[in-house]
Amino acid sequence: MDRIVITGKQPLRGSVKVSGAKNAALPILASVILGGGECTLTNVPRVVDVFTMGKLLGMLGATVQADGNRVVMKMDALRSPEAPYDLVRTMRASVVVLGPLLARWGEATVSLPGGCAIGSRPVNLHLAGFEKMGATVTVEHGYIKAKAPRLKGARICLDFPTVTGTENLMMAACLADGTTVIENAAKEPEIVDLAAFLVKRGARIAGAGSDLVTIEGVKALRGADHDVIPDRIEAGTYLAAGAITGGDVSVEDCRPQHLEAVTAKLREAGAEVVEGKESVRLRAPARLKSVDVRTYPYPGFATDMQAQMMALMCVAQGTSVITEAVFESRFIHVPELQRMGAEIKVDGSHAVVTGAARLAGAPVMASDLRASAGLIVAGLAAEGETDIARVYHLDRGYERIDEKLRGLGARIMRVKDGSSGVASGAGA
Ligand code: EPZ
Repeated sequence: MDRIVITGKQPLRGSVKVSGAKNAALPILASVILGGGECTLTNVPRVVDVFTMGKLLGMLGATVQADGNRVVMKMDALRSPEAPYDLVRTMRASVVVLGPLLARWGEATVSLPGGCAIGSRPVNLHLAGFEKMGATVTVEHGYIKAKAPRLKGARICLDFPTVTGTENLMMAACLADGTTVIENAAKEPEIVDLAAFLVKRGARIAGAGSDLVTIEGVKALRGADHDVIPDRIEAGTYLAAGAITGGDVSVEDCRPQHLEAVTAKLREAGAEVVEGKESVRLRAPARLKSVDVRTYPYPGFATDMQAQMMALMCVAQGTSVITEAVFESRFIHVPELQRMGAEIKVDGSHAVVTGAARLAGAPVMASDLRASAGLIVAGLAAEGETDIARVYHLDRGYERIDEKLRGLGARIMRVKDGSSGVASGAGA
């Protein structure tokens, strides 16, 4: 297992290009199951979760050919309706194959995703929606078994604006009989991107990006080409890296309007943030001010940026309260930050962070994708060397993060486990 070794306190300067959004690419790839002609996707990030989804789609009967950041895909026949546990447990987002399988092929057997480092991750709202659309759903021996000769349109009110739940139900509704209305739908940009792709393929969807999405079922979809939107969480991660090092970083090829809750918080903390058409430039003071953060569904502050923001607050001036209001336990990065000297007290969904003048580099352990990103941000500001183990978590959602950070002047190296890596400015 590789490790990432960082020698901190190097102000980051320069520009970095953002890759395509993992959380847009995954449901868009899964929508190939809905059938119709060949589709060509561009700006698909080369990350492990995308490879995993491609493997799963192949098992189900799709052909998915990747060439760099370009993917050509189609599905003319079902090979199997089953998404197996040993694959689903490595990527919870596999659950988004459930809706398309039901809608196009009438059956699905998908392993329950199981919990992960950030919570139990239930899918009850997905399943209740499918039942409303006429599917029979049972859960046995850890698998969701769903059948529906023909889904029918329904009015579905979600208890919580679940992102993949909205995506799953929206895809299923594309081929259902009649009209489906999803109330309290999630509004994330990734949902808007999925809807835009489906509409290009002939789906009839209105209201994506609002909390009321209406889908009128059609008989079949056709092929289409699509350029995946940039990854707002990757963009926010590089802004946090610039902010914590007192740097001057320009994030290119992004959508500033998708980052507004994050850039507002960075400005509140004292950073100067200038938005271009497809870029955001951040210049930070030597030390930021503490700010309070509460995560919230989009357009609120993204839970996927919480760990990165907490790292920033560990060296800010003052005390900040960080509230994780989306997942039930997403503070697993706290003990690792404390190993670096951070002063953090967790009480339920709140973490009180007392900003210290410095963090000290230390050997730490990555636990999930975004916690790992938070440790990298902290390591960039820490005195001395931070050695992050289990970086395979990072590879799930960040394309070449060490290379991109080196391009900003970070002293960061990826080392094979068992060898001592000394981070240098090499390759800046
Ligand atoms: C998506 O996960 C993202 N993943 C997550 O990003 C992101 O953190 C999350 O949305 C919130 O923004 C993908 O898009 C692939 P949810 P998802 O369903 O859809 C509860 C990353 O790092 N809930 O919106 O699984 C749930 O327990 C990942 O890229 C139910 O109770 O999140 C949680 O508390 C991590 N029942 C809350 O809703 C359900 O049926 C939000 O979950 C579904 C969800």
